[in-house]
Amino acid sequence: MEKITVVGSGYVGLVSGTCFADIGNRVICCDVDPFKIAMLRKGEIPIYEPGLKELVEKNIEAERLFFTSEIGDAIEASDIIYIAVGTPMGESGEADMRYVHEVARTIGQHLNRYKIIVNKSTVPVGTGRAVEQIIKENRKNRFVKFDVVSNPEFLREGSAIEDCMNMERAVIGATSDEAAKRIAELHAPFRTRIFQTNLESAEMIKYAANAFLATKISFINGIANVCERVGADVTAVSAGMGLDSRIGGKFLQAGIGYGGSCFPKDTFALSYIAEEAGFDFNLLKSVITANDEQRFVVVNKLREALGSLQGKRIGVLGLSFKPNTDDMRYAPSLTIIPELVNQGASVRAFDPIARQAARNQIAEYYEDFGSIEETLEDCDACLILTEWSEIVEMDLTRVKELLKAPVMVDGRNCFTTQKMADEGFNYYSVGRPA
Ligand code: UGA
Repeated sequence: MEKITVVGSGYVGLVSGTCFADIGNRVICCDVDPFKIAMLRKGEIPIYEPGLKELVEKNIEAERLFFTSEIGDAIEASDIIYIAVGTPMGESGEADMRYVHEVARTIGQHLNRYKIIVNKSTVPVGTGRAVEQIIKENRKNRFVKFDVVSNPEFLREGSAIEDCMNMERAVIGATSDEAAKRIAELHAPFRTRIFQTNLESAEMIKYAANAFLATKISFINGIANVCERVGADVTAVSAGMGLDSRIGGKFLQAGIGYGGSCFPKDTFALSYIAEEAGFDFNLLKSVITANDEQRFVVVNKLREALGSLQGKRIGVLGLSFKPNTDDMRYAPSLTIIPELVNQGASVRAFDPIARQAARNQIAEYYEDFGSIEETLEDCDACLILTEWSEIVEMDLTRVKELLKAPVMVDGRNCFTTQKMADEGFNYYSVGRPA
């Protein structure tokens, strides 16, 4: 059993802290936001993540999981301090390190005995060293020792608990073998593969992994754009390519590009890191541009299908950047809906969970509804932006009755072209014959 404090009760901190508690540790999750802490103490979760509420409640009940906004006290009470605060995108695409540095100062001021400081936030290479330096400068007693470790997280929103409990690997970067060993032991109940390396490489692994996955997506989207011009079907192409174990079949789903709080931010940050280090990472820049452009593929398809968007009513299904989350950060809908409106269309939209979050961001561009039926009534076309199960499983015969004409543009390839032909739709998807 370890005594752990997690600073930052956002997505990453809350999920990791709860999972560490669940495997038997005593975990204090902290946050500067007292309202968030008050909510969490009552077992109320500020984000939508399947299974998280139950796990938080279970571990509060078992007295393994605690919440506080007294960060200094929480640091003093624990031996392992996880830094899991945000690193938002700065003005030039760089990661804004202000919160990480602030936490490092607080840790320094409250370093009452030996501690291991673990960076879980996605941070530029060199941050572990910077944290070490800041703690040294701020500690009151210079004889109190500490070690800094990098242990990046690889959770996906929507399946975070599952990803944490069955993690594929734990990357541990450290300057001290002892500290690395202790963090490896902490992960033993997850029965995962441990990959130990130095601080800088661990920090880089996180960026490289996300940038590579983003590259796979932009690549397959490019292939999709070619496929539809030459009569090939990208779903077959992905499946065929994926059989090569060097390529792998995952992350080859063509669509309207990646969104979310990670890929857009991390690809920008890595491009910035490369530039600062004197390397012009053109491949990565193209991945980013291709992703921005991919949003417009479905807008163009809609325009082609309807002749013009002027005066047309479009029923949009799905607003969040992917299913099973209410996260709207860099969601394709944030670009696509205003573009439809700019081109003269009016938009009605539905999302099973992200309705409020979406309204907070682009409410002026559309009217939202609580069901697929209400949304699609009398629309000139249906546009799918997120593959929520309620959307993939909707009654297509009913959808056809509701629409003025059976036109559907599907940015997520939810249905087979055969099925849609059988149902009598004019169906336009990504990278497949119309
Ligand atoms: C991603 C990574 O998958 C996690 O490993 C990582 O820990 C996390 O970022 C992070 O850095 O914190 P997440 O952003 O939750 O996780 O979402 P993903 O499931 O990876 O999807 C990202 C985006 O790519 C979504 O917009 C999704 O629609 C899109 N995508 C994914 C595709 O367009 N095609 C695919 O084949 C796969």
